[in-house]
Amino acid sequence: MAGPGRSCPLAYRYRPEDLAGPPAFDTTTLYVVGGLYGNTHALDAVLARAAAEHPPPEIVFNGDFHYLDAAPEPFAAVEAGVHAHRATLGNVEYALTTGDDALGCGCDYPAYVADPVVTNSNLVLARLRAGAAVTDAARARLAALPRHLTATVGGHRVGIVHGDAESLAGWRLALEAVDPPDAQARARTGFSGPATTSATVADWCRRADVVALCCTHTGLPYLQEHAARYLVANNGCAGLPNFTGARSGLLTRLSADPRPPADSLYGTTLDGLRVDALPVRYDHERWREEFLSRWPAGSPAHANYADRIDEGTWLTVDHAVRVPRR
Ligand SMILES: [Fe+2]
Repeated sequence: MAGPGRSCPLAYRYRPEDLAGPPAFDTTTLYVVGGLYGNTHALDAVLARAAAEHPPPEIVFNGDFHYLDAAPEPFAAVEAGVHAHRATLGNVEYALTTGDDALGCGCDYPAYVADPVVTNSNLVLARLRAGAAVTDAARARLAALPRHLTATVGGHRVGIVHGDAESLAGWRLALEAVDPPDAQARARTGFSGPATTSATVADWCRRADVVALCCTHTGLPYLQEHAARYLVANNGCAGLPNFTGARSGLLTRLSADPRPPADSLYGTTLDGLRVDALPVRYDHERWREEFLSRWPAGSPAHANYADRIDEGTWLTVDHAVRVPRR
């Protein structure tokens, strides 16, 4: 598939086996925070939630931490906050570091995503790239980020990607793509194309030598168990609402401590690894105000995200829970 926003550069491609090496670090608790989207208030909320944990968690921002922060001050704040922890590349960061003008937003949008959404996404990225916010130092920092990362959480190997186990901007771990089908997710997104079976996900996990895959990128969160021995946690967006009527983002928390956190929206325990979706309770009013000042009505980001910021998505928590509740 070609065209800005729908292309998949070779640099995006890797194999599940590439995650099978030694872990980058070991921790007892891990936050995986995908899709911050330049929301500095969500960043503050993530860091405040982390500060309440003892011992403190490791934090991995697994891409698209920039996007709507097309101004020097928020861009610098996101840079500083993210790089004080760990990070992996998202398509937004990749697009900021490449000279490939044909890449657009780098989202590798599948055919079922409507053209105006793709066009607007490309325009948002173009403005971010062209603005003064992205310094050479930032570009160099982002270019040095890995495309994926493997960690251990209390000895459990966990793979962290932006898209899926084969591509930085892959859509095969989207809620609408995975089997068994969520009929509403497929109808709402207009999903077409091959579904991702549990056998495929289990094969990826086996080849990556991980018990859990954490991803983001495709916008809608869920937690799913595969073959009774692997978990996939897609956190949706940390910097945008994910559920109907909600005004908070979402992060994935993994821990060797089996106790569910009090603020868990949903979660499960598999072989001693606790995985939960936690709300990122950011200051909605301030975020909304900043978003509208940067992206007023008529702007491409407004067209794509204003409704979501105010009203969330069609998704309910029940749709996101694809695991036995434990
Ligand atoms: Fe993405």
